[in-house]
Amino acid sequence: MLWTTVSLSFEIFTKKLRSDKEMCGIFGCILKNGSAAPIIHAALKRLEYRGYDSVGEATIENGRLFIKKDAGKIDVVHSIRNLDDLPGRIGIGHTRWATHGAPLQVNAHPHFGCSDPPTIAVIHNGIIENFAEIKKDLEDKGHIFRSKTDTEIIAHLIEENLGQGDLKSAVSSSVERLQGSYAIAVISAKEPDKIICARNESPLVLGIADNAFYFASDTPAFLPLTNKVVFVENGELVTLNDEGFEIKKLVDGKPVVRKSRVVDWTHEMAEKQGYPHFMLKEIHEQPRCLRDTLRLQDKYLELLTTFLDRARDVAMVACGTSYHACLAASYMFSKLSFLATHPVIASEFTEQHGKSVNIDSTILAVSQSGETADTLAAVETARQRAATILGLTNVVGSTLTRVSRVYIGQQSGPEIGVAATKTFTSQLSVLSQLAIRLAKKRGKISQEEIDLLDEKIEKIPSIVERIVKTQEEKVKTLARKYKDNQCFFFLGRGISYATALEGRLKLMEIAYVPSIAFPAGESKHGPISLVELGFPVIFICPPDETRKTLIGNIMEMKARGASIIAICEEGDEEIIGMVDDYVEVTRGIPEILSPIPYVVPLQLFAYYMAIEKQCDPDMPRNLAKSVTVK
Ligand code: G6P
Repeated sequence: MLWTTVSLSFEIFTKKLRSDKEMCGIFGCILKNGSAAPIIHAALKRLEYRGYDSVGEATIENGRLFIKKDAGKIDVVHSIRNLDDLPGRIGIGHTRWATHGAPLQVNAHPHFGCSDPPTIAVIHNGIIENFAEIKKDLEDKGHIFRSKTDTEIIAHLIEENLGQGDLKSAVSSSVERLQGSYAIAVISAKEPDKIICARNESPLVLGIADNAFYFASDTPAFLPLTNKVVFVENGELVTLNDEGFEIKKLVDGKPVVRKSRVVDWTHEMAEKQGYPHFMLKEIHEQPRCLRDTLRLQDKYLELLTTFLDRARDVAMVACGTSYHACLAASYMFSKLSFLATHPVIASEFTEQHGKSVNIDSTILAVSQSGETADTLAAVETARQRAATILGLTNVVGSTLTRVSRVYIGQQSGPEIGVAATKTFTSQLSVLSQLAIRLAKKRGKISQEEIDLLDEKIEKIPSIVERIVKTQEEKVKTLARKYKDNQCFFFLGRGISYATALEGRLKLMEIAYVPSIAFPAGESKHGPISLVELGFPVIFICPPDETRKTLIGNIMEMKARGASIIAICEEGDEEIIGMVDDYVEVTRGIPEILSPIPYVVPLQLFAYYMAIEKQCDPDMPRNLAKSVTVK
């Protein structure tokens, strides 16, 4: 096969990569000679930023499959199992960010079917939405599953379909049944000269060298090996062998001819996929993360909702940004499902509630990392007094998941920027789904309202996408205008109070601008004394029931010479007409979902203020991503 090469400008290339999904890294190679395992191991290290819960490799030699996998970070697993000593020049590898199933050895990739010893091995990045239904069918046909993952069904499905043809057609007919996102790679001891890959939504890139062919989730994996890449598109099936690649359309088997491209990146640039900082990359990733929260497993959402339904009242414990998600959730639960919840800053929980928490109490602990010491200490206090612990976290396998009776993994993928962005909006999405479910269960709101919320929550990812696309330049200009201001107010009423707090935290933590957030109604009870000519006040103004009163608060600030910046609904002429600057958010967002899109301009504002002030937004001074001391 002839591979022509074109050079690719940085800008086009980054646009291409910016549609990528994160969460798990996959890599594989066919070498003309040499040993695949050490190359796979080194490439997985370069993909570790995509996930690090478990690692695994499979290689083929002399028609036999060799597999090593275990839970833990790559270095730890390597020190115990030596990932480099698998034989063979063909192999695949995976570094995992757990979504379905805890980070245990049994859930680590590669996965295989029933045959013993295994003959096929599968790795996967993505989420299979209909895995439960496929699993049931396969179990009825006698397949026995070892893991709790969605991926294992792919291996069994291929095994089942192998009865009717070769590996390529078995993979092709298997992926036809899959709904959701996937980049998969499959090897078989019975066809030991090839690797079959397929893609839908999750990224897949091929790497071309003189004496080897590779595939991976993205380019950092290849950089020391080759700079020639070929992007695989959605709905394509790839066969790699000693001759090169063959790409076909899954739908009709038609061959695809695609030119390779030359990339000229450092490893660090590639990890950030062309963004200057992880924080900006993670802000842009929010539509994808929000989509993934809409794919959460029904049974866990349902189970958690049942616990909430039985609860007399619920304390939601968290720190930092996660606390703001809890505060927003307290409005959601109260308004939709008439459930009283108390957001509590975790470090205060033991003092405030340590004596009153008891066997009838329910604690919902929210922590991106699942390891924050203050949150875990609050949970421990409650556990010792026999309370029911529920968890929401981004890290399946974290301490929080181990101490919770039921937990939900929010599936945002690793967040590397210290300031939480994508994990915050994902938390809000999960919490709003819980509130909507509870409302349905309790029959507290009308069917029309529920239908509307269900419809709107599906649209939130594309709404966020649009806000970033249309408002980012405007926010950048605002940051330039306000960069020298020494203090900001962030004001909102109702659920937007939580949005205001989060906007203020972002600005303070990464741009080092002392800022104050409080419910807009409190302005007149003290803080307004700080306001003088040109003092910047950011108002969060969704068109909910608080809007009218909020306009009164805007007038109060204006009368004292404040510069008003509004985050308001698109085309809200009344607000736009009275403020100095504004950022617009798509129309028609229900109140309880509003913190998700309304916080996005504030994240961007904090980011660009940090850039204007020459601060490093990814590593703010004195802060840590996960605070594991009290
Ligand atoms: C640290 C981080 C914050 C985060 C907080 C809670 O302070 O810098 O960004 O919101 O911890 O972290 P958690 O992992 O529990 O959500």
